[in-house]
Amino acid sequence: MAAKKSETTMDKLVSLCKRRGYIFQSSEIYGGLNSCYDYGPLGSELKRNVKDFWWWWMTRRRDDVDGLDASILMHPRVWEASGHVEGFTDPLVDCKNCKQRFRADQIDTSACPNCGKDTLTEARKFNLMFKTQMGPVEDDGSEVFLRPETAQGIFVNFTNVQTAMRRKVPFGIAQIGKAFRNEITPGNFVFRTREFEQMEMQFFVKPGTDEQWFESWREDRMAYYNALGLSPDKLRWHEHGPDELAHYARAAYDIEYEFPFGWQELEGVHNRTDFDLRRHNEYCGKKNALTYFDEKNSERYVPFVIETSAGCDRTLLTCLVDAYREEEDRVVLGLAPRLAPIKAGVFPLVKKEGMVAAAKDVYERLKPVHKSFYDEGGSIGRRYRRQDEAGTPLGITADGQTVEDGTVTIRERDSMAQHRVKVDEVVGWVTRFIEDDD
Ligand code: GAP
Repeated sequence: MAAKKSETTMDKLVSLCKRRGYIFQSSEIYGGLNSCYDYGPLGSELKRNVKDFWWWWMTRRRDDVDGLDASILMHPRVWEASGHVEGFTDPLVDCKNCKQRFRADQIDTSACPNCGKDTLTEARKFNLMFKTQMGPVEDDGSEVFLRPETAQGIFVNFTNVQTAMRRKVPFGIAQIGKAFRNEITPGNFVFRTREFEQMEMQFFVKPGTDEQWFESWREDRMAYYNALGLSPDKLRWHEHGPDELAHYARAAYDIEYEFPFGWQELEGVHNRTDFDLRRHNEYCGKKNALTYFDEKNSERYVPFVIETSAGCDRTLLTCLVDAYREEEDRVVLGLAPRLAPIKAGVFPLVKKEGMVAAAKDVYERLKPVHKSFYDEGGSIGRRYRRQDEAGTPLGITADGQTVEDGTVTIRERDSMAQHRVKVDEVVGWVTRFIEDDD
């Protein structure tokens, strides 16, 4: 049956996410906490698969990037050096009438977009970093920040990684981890939240080779989103103009995706020059702390950095939006098999002894290798539809023939093609199906 792509709305997706155990509102029984979300059983599997694929793409597929897992809390001077204490701000306006807050650069009227009154304050700088106290004494000296980007953990570890791994420039460091921003206007489900995960990679290069590496990483990052199976016509580049560039960037491009709420940033690729390493050398008081000695040419320099910075939650949301479709008699989440939380649903056609035993046997064989789900409740059509909506790419059914000749039917979610496969060969068949996911 031809896939009929009807319009994906955020309401439909949010509802599916709750129904199928992908994403729940945080602290829901208390009325929820604004812009905070919990990933349910399927959501946490999907998130893990998104992260695993990124990690594989960065650190396994190529051999010039090492991994890192730095702490969220860092020395407060880090954020002075990085420019975040001074400059990580958004312009905030308050409405004196209805008490709503807005980002001045996101509204274009002088009247309050909520109540319509002319009661907006002047814009003031609002720092997006969350502050907390470290240790038992609450004073200025104990103030620390929750990191607003994972990148700084990579910068301050440049020399540690380079010497421990005996790396020569160019090489990169990749990291996945939580970041926190006290966003003035979070929203659009998990698109913009105050607590989120980033997947960042900093690639250290010799000054003068940065533009060439920048182009090479741009190409690589678009190839990654294609490999995730996202619709190519919904992806595009956006080049930052001079007034959009972050304080550290010489050049920056965003990869954007066309969400139901418009084209929005998915990932940033930045040429950060030597800004961060140079600043850390200055602020830590050791001028060569983060430098590189090129033995071949007997020269010491501060490497330039090409950064690729993706949001994990945002990638996950994009995959869900892109995968959602409605057909005549079913809703399908057409997730790429490598990302799908459950790889196979396993069913007896009807609840008869021989079929139940055969289906359980298949499930037991599959379970340690591929996340699978055994279901014997309701009609087979309903069981298929539940898994289609959950994004499960394969349905495996034991029927009357299974009892006679030891074969089962494997049904593909997208094409609904059916294959007759020997029970002994099911695990290999499923593995090949997932690995061929290109
Ligand atoms: N180290 C550079 C950096 O952090 P950024 O453009 O501010 O750059 C990179 O953020 C990516 O992190 C974004 O493209 C987005 O995917 C994700 N991100 C940023 N803020 C976010 C938020 N409030 N909620 C969810 N994801 C966010």
